Amino acid sequence: MRTQVVIVGGGPSGLLLGQLLHKAGIESIVLERQSRAHVLGRIRAGVLERGLVDLMGQAGVDTRMKAEGFVHDGTLIAYDNDMFRVDFTAHTDATVLVYGQTEVTRDLYDARDATGGDTRFEVENVVIHDAGTDAPFVTFGENGHSERIDCDFIAGCDGFHGVSRKTIPADVRQEYEKVYPFGWLGILSETPPVNDELIYANSDRGFALCSMRNANLSRYYIQCDTSDDPASWSDDAFWDELRRRIPPQAAEALVTGPSIEKSIAPLRSFVCEPMRWGRLFLCGDAAHIVPPTGAKGLNTAASDVHYLNQGLRQFYGQGDSEGIDRYSERALARVWKTQRFSWWFSTLMHHFPDQTAFDKKMQRAELALLRDSREAQAAMALSYVGLAY
Ligand code: PHB
Repeated sequence: MRTQVVIVGGGPSGLLLGQLLHKAGIESIVLERQSRAHVLGRIRAGVLERGLVDLMGQAGVDTRMKAEGFVHDGTLIAYDNDMFRVDFTAHTDATVLVYGQTEVTRDLYDARDATGGDTRFEVENVVIHDAGTDAPFVTFGENGHSERIDCDFIAGCDGFHGVSRKTIPADVRQEYEKVYPFGWLGILSETPPVNDELIYANSDRGFALCSMRNANLSRYYIQCDTSDDPASWSDDAFWDELRRRIPPQAAEALVTGPSIEKSIAPLRSFVCEPMRWGRLFLCGDAAHIVPPTGAKGLNTAASDVHYLNQGLRQFYGQGDSEGIDRYSERALARVWKTQRFSWWFSTLMHHFPDQTAFDKKMQRAELALLRDSREAQAAMALSYVGLAY
């Protein structure tokens, strides 16, 4: 087989890239290790930046998102039983859209099916060959057969544990990492959201977040120990702990119900440099991970997809390799700024096990500055709605 771009990974970043390339007449094959049902069963964050919303529009996949997503023009921050609002439109010309990543992925699969795109699920042993040469190829197992695809380029959209990043030789790769000493226990419940905007809460008992998917689907998180087992957290224990961490007026308004999903996510900051090696380009979690505070994971993957899509269009359309040559530099410049925001927001909002009394005072002082200063709110709003590409 031969194609122009092999996309390793059929999550939202690989699929979005595939649709954008399709619009430019560039052919791709998507390889996914899991089944479609497995990919669609993953619950991820649900706050989309304008840049991602625009890319979905360019890919021609924004009809349902526009109809069912909720525009949010502010968010609430709670601490010490106090709560204040950061207004995005007062400080930026943008808003965010609340629409689940799972729904983004579903819409992209439907679009890929409609355009006849080649997507292979449940492939095994994907190996990227000769990415450092002008004749790369990818091998994999499918239904018990070995397959080979020759291609011009490979987009590594296969996540943190995928093969793409590890294909870059260790002496070329530089990895930066910070692991946080806690996780997030999240639940999804078919209950109305406690508030029409998200509430991020810093409490002495740890962080909590009230989020949502739609009018009758809520997403809540509480900071937990990384060693906790979700099965040992009953729904009642979760709701009790959440109520203790959010402001009293929210605790009173909270409507509880059975969880339909419950899981623990670790918190990690991670960046791999460079994001390109020869004809292999890393996108999204394959190259970087953010802690979930601020919901930048998919949004940062989308900015990578934007730069790569531009570079590949420039290459195929004008025979100009400037965009692909500068892909890593352009993507990383934005990645690091988003890393900074996610690290800052996580550090501000969580209880750290080794936190001293002084550290705690610093957190409180920074929260008070954010509450009282227009400029501090503007800085937060700028990153929250998403930095320009
Ligand atoms: C979510 O709805 O899952 C969510 C929202 C905002 C965040 C993180 C996660 O900052």
